[in-house]
Amino acid sequence: MAINLLAWYQKNHRQLPWREDLDPYKIWVSEIILQQTRVAQGIEYYLRFLEKFPDIKTLANSPMEAVYTIWQGLGYYRRAFLIHQGAKFTVEHYDGLLPKSLHELKKIPGIGTYTAAAIASIAFNEPVIALDGNLKRIAARVGCIKEVMGTSVFEKQAMNELKRFFPFNCPGDGNQALMDLSALICTPKNPQCRICPLNAICCAHATGTQMDYPLKATKIPKKDRYFWYLVHSKNGLIAFSRRNFNDIWGGLWEFPLIETSSANELDFLMAFKKKYPDMVLRVSKMVTIPKPHILSHQRIFTTLVHVNNPLLNIPDIEYFDKNNFPPSSTLVKKILAQIV
Ligand code: ADE
Repeated sequence: MAINLLAWYQKNHRQLPWREDLDPYKIWVSEIILQQTRVAQGIEYYLRFLEKFPDIKTLANSPMEAVYTIWQGLGYYRRAFLIHQGAKFTVEHYDGLLPKSLHELKKIPGIGTYTAAAIASIAFNEPVIALDGNLKRIAARVGCIKEVMGTSVFEKQAMNELKRFFPFNCPGDGNQALMDLSALICTPKNPQCRICPLNAICCAHATGTQMDYPLKATKIPKKDRYFWYLVHSKNGLIAFSRRNFNDIWGGLWEFPLIETSSANELDFLMAFKKKYPDMVLRVSKMVTIPKPHILSHQRIFTTLVHVNNPLLNIPDIEYFDKNNFPPSSTLVKKILAQIV
């Protein structure tokens, strides 16, 4: 069926900075930023990122810390780590030029199927669909897909639905048209079906069931975590330690941390002894932050354990000047603003 998706896009597309040219590096940066971030917030970070790292070689030759500094406040810091890794890999294996096919792009660290498809279609005109959560919502509605989103059966059906009308002769615009449609018309709440260019072929529209799709798995409750931050500052120097890369805020800096699975002080003391068996702890006061810090799947309950003795001779602890903090999470920055 001939669907006027491209005509709709030409008339209604959003003017966004990464649409100004087809430089694959710029598209890569925009896609990584937009994976977990709203367009309105992403624009500012995109512009700052490109100002600091205008090309792949500059990014690859910059220290990791500089990338984290630009990324601060954006969340999901693993993205910053991976795009830096990806840039280094591209310099090493492709002389600093992104390869031109979906297949090759997927070999680069941090470039998964979605990002590879977005770059390949927008920058290199490869006829592939970049299926992200937003396109899945469109597909689920168009086809009244009865599978739970996130399963591989769902993905296959979603692709089949989109293939029915996707303009493979203009794949870059086709993907971006669907992205804009998902943001402007086929929104999670209050979709504007009356003015949707797909309404003639949409099963959910025909049956008035727009809000039933996509089918979601039962909601996973947020996980509660208990952070005990050891706060020691002396002569303007503050103890910090770096987070592991395989957890939230990976690679960012924070106060030395003891984590427990309950708010119980005894649990904290036992966990402390286990982590630092040779260290004496002299606590001046403990301050529990009244409200948890909320993330998409977690609640972080935090207690500041103010320590009198220096946390020296511990390999993973470093002292930083209070006027020159290393990159850190929003939670840590809020705490710093209060205690310094
Ligand atoms: N979301 C992800 N990629 C996008 C793009 N290229 N344009 C608009 N929104 C997007």
